[in-house]
Amino acid sequence: MVGLFFALFLLFMAGRHLLSTYDLTVDDVKSIVTEAHSVLTNDGRIGTPDVQYPDRRVVLAFYEASTRTRISFETAAQRLGITSIHFQATGSSVEKGESLLDTMHTLDAMDVDAVVLRHGSNGAHASVAAETRMSVINAGEGTTSHPTQALLDVSAILERRPSLAGCRIGIVGDIRHSRVARSQIDLFRRLGASVVICGPETMATFNDMPNDVEQRSTIDDVLEDVNILSMLRIQFERLNSDEVPSLDDYRKRYALTTKRLANHKDVLVIHPGPVNVGIEVDADILTSQQSLIRRQVTHGVAVRMAVLSRLFAP
Ligand code: CP
Repeated sequence: MVGLFFALFLLFMAGRHLLSTYDLTVDDVKSIVTEAHSVLTNDGRIGTPDVQYPDRRVVLAFYEASTRTRISFETAAQRLGITSIHFQATGSSVEKGESLLDTMHTLDAMDVDAVVLRHGSNGAHASVAAETRMSVINAGEGTTSHPTQALLDVSAILERRPSLAGCRIGIVGDIRHSRVARSQIDLFRRLGASVVICGPETMATFNDMPNDVEQRSTIDDVLEDVNILSMLRIQFERLNSDEVPSLDDYRKRYALTTKRLANHKDVLVIHPGPVNVGIEVDADILTSQQSLIRRQVTHGVAVRMAVLSRLFAP
């Protein structure tokens, strides 16, 4: 059955880069999610696809820290028979001053097929796509875009709900500095959900926020009418010192506490991770029946398998 889904999927999907959610049509998103779900087994684990790509080589190039994205791409590649090569900026010739583009040209000259790239500069991924022969998969770009995160969020939600059409989704926390929020807002809206946002003034919104996204003052206002709550961490590493809120105030207005969630039993909770446990989310919410946070990680592998297969489809 898994093999049949893969074969059908490959007939429909073909794309050289995944730079942003904007590269994907709604049908593409639905196909990726269907494909991701097809590799998940009935007991919630990840099956082995019949389709394998043993002659393909992918470099995982991470210029910023990562656990989930890097390792899920690595295990996704392994499950597809793809050779993955790990490149970490620390310990590489980046420390001798080599630029991103020179490094990418170097990898390209080694005739790898694709680079899964995480980089802190907005626009870095498009430059690499324009300048090299490699396919580029965005594994996190500055504050701009994290397309596979939004895809896995959708995939995890659609395991528990039939559709996003008509859903109301709240996004709470550090939205301004979040590449995840930008990719989520695009996909959630295009799949038919309405979005409300909430966060402290220094983090609540960004310049090109779509007009139909409503802003609320506190998480309690958001919880009143949402089906799904996407919690975001405070990205301390991206904040100036004058942007860091008082954590007491933050907890009072924006944290998802056990008590708050208990009053909204139908709300599903997602979080891209890593979680600042005890700041934006209470510890026991991670294992709550209402939380998809751990399940999102499994969907991360399945979605990235689907994305890699789409890339290498003949
Ligand atoms: N959600 C996410 O991108 O996590 P990592 O930084 O651990 O990859």
